[in-house]
Amino acid sequence: MLTVNELGYWYDQQVNSLFENVNLSFAAGESYAIVGQSGTGKTTFLLLIAGLDKPKAGTIELAGQSIAKIGLTAYR
Ligand SMILES: Nc1ncnc2c1ncn2[C@@H]1O[C@H](COP(=O)(O)OP(=O)(O)OP(=O)(O)O)[C@@H](O)[C@H]1O
Ligand SMILES: [Mg+2]
Repeated sequence: MLTVNELGYWYDQQVNSLFENVNLSFAAGESYAIVGQSGTGKTTFLLLIAGLDKPKAGTIELAGQSIAKIGLTAYR
C-alpha cells in the first residue's frame, strides 16, 4: 500500500499551494485515475509519489515506511 498523509505542495509560496492535507491510499495491483482541470497539480502529485520531487508538507509511505526514510533512490 502506498499512502499519502496530509500531503501539501506549492512551487513559490504556501499561500499559492496547489494542494494541502491530501490523504489517499493506493493498493498494489489496483488502477486509479487522478482527475482534475488543467493546472490543478495532477502531474505534480505524480512526481511526488514517484519520488522525483519532495513534498512541502506531509509524508508518503510505502508499506508503512516513509519514502524519505527509505531514501528516494532506493524507493524509485
Ligand atoms: N516547475 C514548476 N515551477 C513553477 N510552477 C510550476 C512548475 N510546474 C508546474 N507548475 C505550475 O503548477 C501548477 C500545476 O501544474 P501541474 O503540471 O501539476 O498540473 P496538471 O494538473 O498536471 O495540469 P495538466 O492537466 O495541464 O497536465 C500549474 O499552475 C503549473 O503552471
Ligand atoms: Mg499534467
